[in-house]
Amino acid sequence: MSAECDVVPMEPFRILTFNRISSSGLARFPVGRYLVGPELSAPDAILLRSHQLRAGAVAASVRAIGRAGAGTDNIAVAEMSRRGIPVFNAPGANANAVKEIVLAALLVAARNVIPALAYVASLPVGAADYERRVEDGKKQFAGLELAGRTLGVIGLGAVGGLVADAAIKLGMNVLGFDPEITVDGAWRLPASVRKANSVEEVLRLSDLVTLHLPLIDSTRNLISEGRLEQIRQGAVLLNFARDAIVDERAVLEALRGGRLKYYICDFPSPALAGEPGAVALPHLGASTEEAEENCAVMVADRIREFLEHGTIRHSVNFPEVEVTRGSPYRIAIANANVPNMLGQISTTLAHFGLNIHDMENKSRGGIAYTLVDVDSPIAEEVVKSISAIEGVLSVRMVAVPSEV
Ligand SMILES: NC(=O)c1ccc[n+]([C@@H]2O[C@H](COP(=O)([O-])OP(=O)(O)OC[C@H]3O[C@@H](n4cnc5c(N)ncnc54)[C@H](O)[C@@H]3O)[C@@H](O)[C@H]2O)c1
Repeated sequence: MSAECDVVPMEPFRILTFNRISSSGLARFPVGRYLVGPELSAPDAILLRSHQLRAGAVAASVRAIGRAGAGTDNIAVAEMSRRGIPVFNAPGANANAVKEIVLAALLVAARNVIPALAYVASLPVGAADYERRVEDGKKQFAGLELAGRTLGVIGLGAVGGLVADAAIKLGMNVLGFDPEITVDGAWRLPASVRKANSVEEVLRLSDLVTLHLPLIDSTRNLISEGRLEQIRQGAVLLNFARDAIVDERAVLEALRGGRLKYYICDFPSPALAGEPGAVALPHLGASTEEAEENCAVMVADRIREFLEHGTIRHSVNFPEVEVTRGSPYRIAIANANVPNMLGQISTTLAHFGLNIHDMENKSRGGIAYTLVDVDSPIAEEVVKSISAIEGVLSVRMVAVPSEV
């Protein structure tokens, strides 16, 4: 495996943007120290929202990718790991926006708002019996109240936790399932959230079910035909996570057979179009001014920290590594998580007469990341020699950023 080798230039960092990124986020990159725009060549980093980023479109110059949002399934993360490129996201920054749209969807489903509106729109304006038809028609849209009903929440991270909390406040019973819940996530949950042991248990016992988990290999088609057979008759399924987490064909069958009353999601498709009971919003979950701003600011800050200091927070594929600068001379190394890498790196530094001032090394899965501060300037040969070590994925000299 050969490594990328570069020396950080003192000229401005170049940030290539895809999608419209909130101006508050872009303002985090000081003019003079950064060039930011949609048409930059040789970028140091890429900043995007939902743009599908093919691995081949990531130039060799790229050192980091920032997703102004939560899901990173539009980025070839595994390939970026192989290239030693951290992918950052903005965990939780849009969670309140998604929670609020999920609350809207729960209420829309409970009170049959969509078909009721369609009924009103179908009445001939100006008809003499307009009012009588309004009164006669309303019976078919009588709804239910959420208080006392059971909401199943699959995935209890930033969004699922807020949804569970809001549902409890509406008087609902909440049944949650998350086999990988974090300690913080569990602390944040109201004590009255009951724990389910499987997706099937949630489906069997809930009146309404909402999905808040990432799309990864193990969650693709999680809501399958077999599982939908277990959902309560007349239940409501909400999907504001990702389209491919549900088997759309199975959902259509469940709607047609009456097992599902509504499927409300954020992912329109030709198959869902015109299907009674299917409601698809145009991926609006995180589309609020506040969420777009929060996400852009958070991920811009993470990219700056990485480019300027090599530190890593909120990455989906790299460990968290933070070292307060104890010296102006810093080197950042990403390598395969295999034995004796640290030994080879420190031997190389010693060979060039460099004394280690401070060092932090952490690993996550197959990736290890090391920040080393040394007491004297680092020659380009040092970077080249470390890059040549088998298993090293990327090496970067992290210059002290010049003030503007
Ligand atoms: N519609 C939108 O615009 C929109 C906006 C934000 C997030 N999302 C989607 O929602 C997802 C959740 O967002 P978040 O901010 O809460 O993410 P998060 O990472 O904070 O939480 C995800 C949770 O899902 C859990 N999980 C993973 N696999 C699971 C499984 N098999 N069963 C049950 N739980 C599982 C994880 O343990 C974690 O607690 C994101 O991955 C994203 O795809 C959509």
